[in-house]
Amino acid sequence: MKAAVTTKAGNPDVIQLQEIPNPKVKAGWVLIRIKAFGLNRSELFTRRGDSPNVNFPRIQGIECVGEIEEDPSGTYLKGQQVAAIMGGMGRFFDGGYAEFCAAPLEIIFPFRSQLPWSVLGAIPEMFQTVSGSLNQALEIKSGEKLLIRGGTSSIGMLAAQLAKAQGLTVISTTRNPSKRDALLANGVDHVLIDDGSVSANLKKIFPEGVEKVLELIGTQTLKDSLKCIGYKGMVCMTGILGNEWTMSDFTPMGDIPSLGRLTVYMGESKNLSKELLQDFIDQVENGKIKLGIDRVFGLHQVAEAHQYMEDNLAQGKVVVEI
Ligand SMILES: NC(=O)c1ccc[n+]([C@@H]2O[C@H](COP(=O)([O-])OP(=O)(O)OC[C@H]3O[C@@H](n4cnc5c(N)ncnc54)[C@H](OP(=O)(O)O)[C@@H]3O)[C@@H](O)[C@H]2O)c1
Repeated sequence: MKAAVTTKAGNPDVIQLQEIPNPKVKAGWVLIRIKAFGLNRSELFTRRGDSPNVNFPRIQGIECVGEIEEDPSGTYLKGQQVAAIMGGMGRFFDGGYAEFCAAPLEIIFPFRSQLPWSVLGAIPEMFQTVSGSLNQALEIKSGEKLLIRGGTSSIGMLAAQLAKAQGLTVISTTRNPSKRDALLANGVDHVLIDDGSVSANLKKIFPEGVEKVLELIGTQTLKDSLKCIGYKGMVCMTGILGNEWTMSDFTPMGDIPSLGRLTVYMGESKNLSKELLQDFIDQVENGKIKLGIDRVFGLHQVAEAHQYMEDNLAQGKVVVEI
């Protein structure tokens, strides 16, 4: 098969298209004929060598969609549509940047859809992350106000749509004023321009603060996001777009307002259910959800796709179609 192999840790050009033997399927695993996969920021970290215990060469890719090629357990039929996500895929065993992938049954999600593979490829990890952050971590409720820090990211754009559909008021941030219209067209109620601090401008609109914050920039803006919550409000840090994993000065009694809550979301396949994924795919298929897909690359262009994401050129999800 053809695979985009990360030959060693480094810049995007360490990813090379190679002809290698097809993966062998073992008991409790399935072989997937991959059709498409979404590109994820965590894969840039892994490629740079920043994911602990990942050895190279490695076929990266923490998710894929495709068809069952072989299932020794008989759970799935040949040709059945499936998604596979996380569970060590693309890190501790070879992942989605290939024509075939062997994956354990626990991370397989069957679905039925007429959508093109390039659209389906955008869905699994993005949906798992947004749904888990909003519903499992932040426990959003109709009537609440949600601030999305990093609102133009593909996660932020989908989060805004799902939160609006659940009856919340949504405030999204961007560093770039020219993206304001794209955020409003995506359905958000207010846009704040983020120069590292938005709390003062947020309080001009909502003096009591907001109930919930989805923090996608990370440690760089976390303290300011904590200033945005009102009584018993909650911040969930799901992303690290700012590329800084640790905070030098953090004073819990001081930076977290009294009774305020701070949590993180680090999604796994166990946070998703087959029913939730199918329901979401149906909503995309019947036009209730509009997925922001920026660009679709081919398997021979994975290195280019990594560079594109690293240069922040995408406005929406980056997908690779086989
Ligand atoms: N916890 C989990 O389970 C999980 C799962 C998936 C993804 N994530 C994380 O969620 C975050 C969003 O992922 P994504 O794929 O949706 O991202 P994305 O679409 O690639 O986000 C791109 C946007 O992020 C903003 N951005 C980029 N660098 C920035 C910086 N240094 N400071 C502030 N803003 C910056 C830019 O917005 P503006 O130019 O408009 O400001 C840019 O348009 C990432 O950190 C990703 O790792 C977490």
